[in-house]
Amino acid sequence: MTYRELLAKYPIISNQIDAQGLGVVLSQLENVLAAGVDGAVVELGCYRGSTSLFIRRVLDAAGQLDRPFHVYDSFAGLPPKTIQDASGAGSDFVAGELSVSKRDFLHEFKHASLKPPRVHKRWFSHLTPEDLPEPIAFAFLDGDFYESIYDSLKLVWPRLAPGGTVVIDDYSREALPGVARAVRDYFEQPGTQPYGRLQVLHNRAVITA
Ligand SMILES: C[S@@+](CC[C@H](N)C(=O)[O-])C[C@H]1O[C@@H](n2cnc3c(N)ncnc32)[C@H](O)[C@@H]1O
Repeated sequence: MTYRELLAKYPIISNQIDAQGLGVVLSQLENVLAAGVDGAVVELGCYRGSTSLFIRRVLDAAGQLDRPFHVYDSFAGLPPKTIQDASGAGSDFVAGELSVSKRDFLHEFKHASLKPPRVHKRWFSHLTPEDLPEPIAFAFLDGDFYESIYDSLKLVWPRLAPGGTVVIDDYSREALPGVARAVRDYFEQPGTQPYGRLQVLHNRAVITA
């Protein structure tokens, strides 16, 4: 089954991503799988699991039940904003918002009869390189704020497999200016391996090595 068929068949269980956003994430994941890129799939900022469930379904549809799949979240909602996140359009996003429990996340997988990913309950700033699989074939970064995206890139980018892809949500969203600033600052950091290509598709950055 293709990602489009999966999207037509199953519900999106939260309002944190829509079918268009999932289309970007899942089509990029399908491309990576079709290209035979070796490595794990990771999602940093999984919330209730809307995208995680579809990632699992795409992996299963490709016969990749054993490909490592890890998700990361505080399960305590968003951290405080920093000055980099200031936006007149962003007053909705406050510390502690988007909090669901790890148990609720796992319940969604049970309810859908899907194999759960490995779940890491931690603030991204407290993760160590050992908490991440290596290599990473595909990553979806959805932490909303400057430091969350910067910390995610710092962990994921050095582990990206040749031919791998990183998709970053909310890249051109007025309410969340910290996302694009974090991407800019991370790649301008001396010593960072530059990316090959950055495309913006429906508000998401798709970055390839
Ligand atoms: C927009 S939601 C993710 C939505 C999810 N990807 C989906 O498709 O439904 C953002 C999530 O990132 C988590 N988050 C944001 N910054 C974080 C950080 N610095 N450390 C840990 N979790 C973080 C929040 O707890 C929240 O669950």
